Amino acid sequence: MRKPYICGNWKLNKTIAEAVDFVNTLKGEIAGINDVEVGIGAPFTCLSALSDACKGTNIASGAEDCYWEESGAFTGEVAPSMIKDAGCSFVIIGHSERRQFFGETNETVNKKVKAALAAGLQAIVCVGEMLEERKAGKANDVVKDHIVGGLEGLSAEQMKNVVIAYEPVWAIGTGETATPAQAQEIHAFARSVLKDMFGEVVAEATRIQYGGSVKPDNVKELMACADVDGALVGGAALKPDSFAALVKFKA
Ligand code: PGA
Repeated sequence: MRKPYICGNWKLNKTIAEAVDFVNTLKGEIAGINDVEVGIGAPFTCLSALSDACKGTNIASGAEDCYWEESGAFTGEVAPSMIKDAGCSFVIIGHSERRQFFGETNETVNKKVKAALAAGLQAIVCVGEMLEERKAGKANDVVKDHIVGGLEGLSAEQMKNVVIAYEPVWAIGTGETATPAQAQEIHAFARSVLKDMFGEVVAEATRIQYGGSVKPDNVKELMACADVDGALVGGAALKPDSFAALVKFKA
């Protein structure tokens, strides 16, 4: 059984104080929920305080990106071991905003995933097509390319610490969610790509989150899809009450 995983992605939002306040409110609202994994991806500047606030709760803290080198002359970059040092357990890699605005490619995603895993972090690897690609009937091709390129060279053992997030770019921050049928179709396809790469056992064990305008009023129908194992959430993860409602999707 794959444990559902609801993860926030705060993007370029929240000060240290806001991050700590968020957790202090959220933790009471979701205390005792152990059948859903919960994470918050946050800007580097809040990670240490966020991790401290999450101590003793069921909430994991993580970063939204990392570099692939451990140290050296790479001004402005942050190493996976530094993210771990800040108390985090995961890192989001290859988000479409990083691909669109910051030159992320499958090759850099692959290097970052390997570095993150080597540092003992869980890697949430984002994949997904742009609107034009979907319109051109290329959604599957793009998703396959992102998965194959991003996960190339990983072992079945390493895949235990990898989560895929399928995020159709046209659904991110737009209020336009993929229908459950559209999500399920790509998730099942993504799982078949994992099967070809790593075999059935890994494919069945790997969580595939959906991301793109997930909200309290659509989370249930998305989570009801056989191959949707959680959500990566931007906008609705910025307020403790809506994020708590997502975590409590089973209620
Ligand atoms: P959204 O963002 O929930 O605001 O659409 C999702 C994401 O980018 O991870």
